[in-house]
Amino acid sequence: MTKEETWSQRFESALHPAIARFNASIGFDIALIEYDLTGSQAHAKMLAHTGIISPKEGEQLVAGLEQIRQEYRQEKFQPGVDAGDEDVHFAVERRLTEIVGDVGKKLHTARSRNDQVGTDTRLYLRDQIQQIKSQLREFQGVLLDIAEKHVETLIPGYTHLQRAQPVSLAHHLLAYFQMAQRDWERLGDVSRRVNISPLGCGALAGTTFPIDRHYTAKLLHFDHIYANSLDGVSDRDFAIEFLCAASLIMVHLSRLAEEVIFWSSQEFRFVTLKDSCATGSSIMPQKKNPDVPELVRGKTGRVFGHLQAMLVIMKGLPLAYNKDLQEDKEGLFDSVNTVKASLEAMTILLREGLEFRTKRLAEAVTEDFSNATDVADYLAARGVPFREAYDLVGKIVKTCEDAGKLLKDLSLEEWQQFHPEFAADIYEAISPRQVVAARNSYGGTGFEQVKKALIAARAQMAQ
Ligand code: ARG
Repeated sequence: MTKEETWSQRFESALHPAIARFNASIGFDIALIEYDLTGSQAHAKMLAHTGIISPKEGEQLVAGLEQIRQEYRQEKFQPGVDAGDEDVHFAVERRLTEIVGDVGKKLHTARSRNDQVGTDTRLYLRDQIQQIKSQLREFQGVLLDIAEKHVETLIPGYTHLQRAQPVSLAHHLLAYFQMAQRDWERLGDVSRRVNISPLGCGALAGTTFPIDRHYTAKLLHFDHIYANSLDGVSDRDFAIEFLCAASLIMVHLSRLAEEVIFWSSQEFRFVTLKDSCATGSSIMPQKKNPDVPELVRGKTGRVFGHLQAMLVIMKGLPLAYNKDLQEDKEGLFDSVNTVKASLEAMTILLREGLEFRTKRLAEAVTEDFSNATDVADYLAARGVPFREAYDLVGKIVKTCEDAGKLLKDLSLEEWQQFHPEFAADIYEAISPRQVVAARNSYGGTGFEQVKKALIAARAQMAQ
């Protein structure tokens, strides 16, 4: 179908050129071409297998489609609006008929572009999900590598972005490992609903030909086939689910990005950005900017936007296919590309673009009152009711603040004036290292727990 042609004898004139451009999806659905060829080859084999076309015709179609694949890869076949192609499906059919002659016109027997495009999109997404899953594994691997080196490195832990309690840096990084683990598992879940074949649902109602939908599904490695043809051609839940999963991946990357941004600031100085992953300013020569995490944080919005767009596209659609569904692609493709690019950039940034400033971190955990809970715990462990201990420690902190001191600066006498239960071992109990080590409850930051968590994380990676 080219723009000079009419749709069928029913039409008397060709499309207005501007409308043809408006209607066309070839500019973006060309990304589906390899999947379209594979899907069409399976369909052609099925037509021959069921006797709807002859075995020879089947072979001609499959070979012609393979030639198109080679031509496309060698950039000899370049479909586009200018070549008169509306979408990738028509472009392939046009070229096929040029190559194999009239038998090419048999390919579309017992098929519609509606079940065809649904098939292509699922094959595409299934592939992309696999790629994103392995990128997540790589990202997790880098987090683990760094975490293993920093079990004993302490970093201030925050709530409300106020210093709360120090934690092991490994524990902090393992939190992101767990988020990525959920992302990885979630994509596996989504895959199960992506991997269902709509091929053979026809335009909406099935077909009059004796097709074998299981046969094509098997050739294309689909796990199941859609049970209802109307649902099969108009379902985009799988795309929405993917966009949800993609949005969560971006949330996680963006949170880490935000931390890297402030860790690298003059105010924190927890990390140094290496030159390979930082940029300068065009006017301020002293600047080193965290462009990579900022871009990741910024790109997150586009993926959320695509999720929102897809939900809105679907909400008012009557059954079955409506042209609105052509709008599913650009957002999906952009989300896939954004997630992949962001994961790659963050993985590189972690692997070689930043260094934790361990000396600065060691200072940071001694310059605040983030050991105050441990003073209260100290008394509570010696029989003082926790709430009473809590109130007393509040008073101690206030006294220290007024005197410009930290808890560790109090003399034993001063401690004992506050409470007779305080003894010489209070100093050890409130040292940052002990504060961390003592949080040995399951899932806590105590070094013993963190070491176990690292082993468990390695095992999860091996799954
Ligand atoms: N380019 C179309 C899309 O992406 C293909 C399906 C067209 N089907 C139709 N009945 N007009 O959705």
